[in-house]
Amino acid sequence: MSEKTMTLKLHVWRQPGANGTGKLQEYTAEGVSPHMSFLEMLDVLNEKLMAKGEEPIAFDHDCREGICGMCSLVINGIPHGGHRGVTACQLHMRNFKDGDAIYVEPWRAKAFPLVRDLVVDRSAFDRIVAAGGYASLNTGGAPDGNAILVPKKEADLAMDAAACIGCGACVAACKNASAMLFVAAKASHLRHLPQGQPERYTRAKAMVDQMDKEGFGTCSNYSQCEAVCPKEISTRVIAELNRDLLVAQTKD
Ligand code: SF4
Ligand code: FES
Repeated sequence: MSEKTMTLKLHVWRQPGANGTGKLQEYTAEGVSPHMSFLEMLDVLNEKLMAKGEEPIAFDHDCREGICGMCSLVINGIPHGGHRGVTACQLHMRNFKDGDAIYVEPWRAKAFPLVRDLVVDRSAFDRIVAAGGYASLNTGGAPDGNAILVPKKEADLAMDAAACIGCGACVAACKNASAMLFVAAKASHLRHLPQGQPERYTRAKAMVDQMDKEGFGTCSNYSQCEAVCPKEISTRVIAELNRDLLVAQTKD
């Protein structure tokens, strides 16, 4: 029995480089299997474009299983496509219907300059982490597994925050292009561990200062970030970061 496939009308953002002019280009994707992932559908389209001697669509990807945070597509206006807890690479074509029009655009934020088509430069996130998202400890030899006890509640809160994959969807969804959910997740996973305590307040200030320097906006508590986060990071971490920031400023 032959598989039922779909024909879709794609409108994909094409832009040759940061300074080039961009526009939505229309493509017809035929023979799309509902079992394909969204990125596989783009792979097939790219093969067809290359067979015709056209430039393939540039898009970021790596693990294709929701781990690395590389896939950065705004699909029909929503970062990662709007399915709870799902990255663009985990989105399957069964979520679409034959004949659907699908709009595919890059993350749009001043601090994420466009590289080409759907690829943006997210190195600002690396610089924020380098500014303070670590614990500078002289660890010596490997300690015994149970030498530093962590209460279960704190361990769970740290693990929830550590799930952030640094994709940047939170920035793309925010009307202020704020990176607060990302920064707060990175600060929170250390904040809840004993190893993170010595630099807790200086870390909060250093990371937020770097976020501001990179050109991300401030948080207005709209919570769009939480709604699109594929790792379902709670805005609770932002409240924690703001508390630590206030203490850091008081200490200053
Ligand atoms: S907080 Fe969520 S949306 Fe933001 S970078 Fe981390 S995983 Fe991505
Ligand atoms: S490609 Fe790694 S999370 Fe999507």
